Amino acid sequence: MDVTVRLNVNGVDKTITADPERRLLDVLREEFRLTGTKYGCGEGQCGACLVLVNGEPLRSCLSPITVADGKSIMTIEGLARGDSLHAVQEAFLEEEAMQCGYCTSGMILSAVALLRENPNPTDEEIAAGMNGHICRCNGYVKVMNAIRHAANTLRSESHG
Ligand code: FES
Ligand code: FES
Repeated sequence: MDVTVRLNVNGVDKTITADPERRLLDVLREEFRLTGTKYGCGEGQCGACLVLVNGEPLRSCLSPITVADGKSIMTIEGLARGDSLHAVQEAFLEEEAMQCGYCTSGMILSAVALLRENPNPTDEEIAAGMNGHICRCNGYVKVMNAIRHAANTLRSESHG
């Protein structure tokens, strides 16, 4: 039997009536047309589907829509403020840390959560925080550079 779920997505309240087993990923993409969240492996292995739920990273391919009830979801579409990209988005662009971009939404949201938790991570901490994100085309050196770059920007903003 369908259930009604109330959630907030990128600052906008939403209500969806759906099969309780329906994946959060599919609701975001198919009902809310937020296609920046990607379907990669569908098995929790690649991180392409990662969104933030109440600020915490969650793989939406493994999550039934019911986990979002009463929660705030952030997808990549909700990260910029107007025309101003988030520092992590800017850093990924500046460091050219993407090619096809399929993995990028999930990586950026993970990095945002990581840097909120730990504003000055070591390389080992970045690697551990980004563990479970798979990129098929770009490699990880530029991703590491981008996250270091974003960390520096965010720290200088918070001190400015
Ligand atoms: S699509 Fe969810 S982890 Fe790969
Ligand atoms: S940039 Fe293509 S999968 Fe990562």
